[in-house]
Amino acid sequence: MRALLVDPTAPAGLRLGSAPDPQPAPHQALVRVAATSLNHGEVAIVAPGAAPGTVLGWDAAGYVERAAADGSGPPAGTPVVTLGEAGGWAELRAVDTRFMGVVPDGADLGAISTIPVAGASALRALHRVGPLLGRRILVTGATGGVGRYAVQLARQGGAYVVAATGDPAGRGEMLRGLGAHAVVSDPAEVEGVVDGVVDLVGGRQLVAAYEKLAEGGVLVAVGHSGGDGEHFAHGVLYGDQGRHDRSVVSFFLLGCGGLARDLEWLAGEVAGGRLDAGEAWRGAWGDAGAAVAALRGRRLHGKAVLEVG
Ligand SMILES: NC(=O)c1ccc[n+]([C@@H]2O[C@H](COP(=O)([O-])OP(=O)(O)OC[C@H]3O[C@@H](n4cnc5c(N)ncnc54)[C@H](OP(=O)(O)O)[C@@H]3O)[C@@H](O)[C@H]2O)c1
Repeated sequence: MRALLVDPTAPAGLRLGSAPDPQPAPHQALVRVAATSLNHGEVAIVAPGAAPGTVLGWDAAGYVERAAADGSGPPAGTPVVTLGEAGGWAELRAVDTRFMGVVPDGADLGAISTIPVAGASALRALHRVGPLLGRRILVTGATGGVGRYAVQLARQGGAYVVAATGDPAGRGEMLRGLGAHAVVSDPAEVEGVVDGVVDLVGGRQLVAAYEKLAEGGVLVAVGHSGGDGEHFAHGVLYGDQGRHDRSVVSFFLLGCGGLARDLEWLAGEVAGGRLDAGEAWRGAWGDAGAAVAALRGRRLHGKAVLEVG
């Protein structure tokens, strides 16, 4: 099969080449991939350290080519959205049926391919926050893949949504279009308190966002795009400042159960036009280098979709 292979000598560290077809385990379906999307973490962190010839790729959408031998998952011919630790940047992918959701017929599989890491992480993070109706939610790193989904889902859930971006003048309108009620350049600017935080930046923004948590509030530390550590001033975590029981919880998507159901629900929302896929770039997978360079250089905010084949 054809695949995007890790190649440190290629301009963006990836080239189109040949790889052996995957051999699915009994609990895996074989999927013919139509589109994949790139995540900042895999292009900026995983790819540079991967062995030459590796086929990476967390997200992919396509059609079941051969159903799982153990009878789990959908039958051959079904359009699906898939998640895995690797193998999405290829014509064929072996996927654990726990990480696969059925997609409505006729859906745009490019848009659907943005869902697995970005959409499912946003949904799970908001589940960790707790009830949203009538609550105030802050999303940091709101312009990125996960952030755009988080803003929309928090709004759909009935929250008052504050979105943080390093460029409110340039990207604030887009974030308001997705449902943000307010846009700030830093969590420290948030007026009043919030009940929940989906933090995608970490470092100083995480610490500032924690300072804004109401009593009983939950900060879900999803990402660390800023690359800095977190330093809390002495006493901040004592909870003796009139706002008790505030929590910081961490999060790892592939450790979550029930992902097939989440993927399927998100696919229905995107296909039905109720969720924007956050696409910022779309092209043939042979042009992946341009998208990878833009993602690494922080010039691309949102999802890059590669059409496969
Ligand atoms: N725990 C998990 O299972 C899990 C799952 C998914 C993602 N993640 C993590 O969540 C984070 C967000 O993922 P993503 O795919 O949404 O990333 P992304 O598309 O690159 O978006 C990150 C956003 O953070 C903002 N940002 C602020 N400071 C930044 C900096 N120094 N460098 C880069 N971006 C910065 C940027 O927005 P502005 O420029 O507008 O401020 C950017 O749009 C990543 O750290 C990723 O590894 C974790």
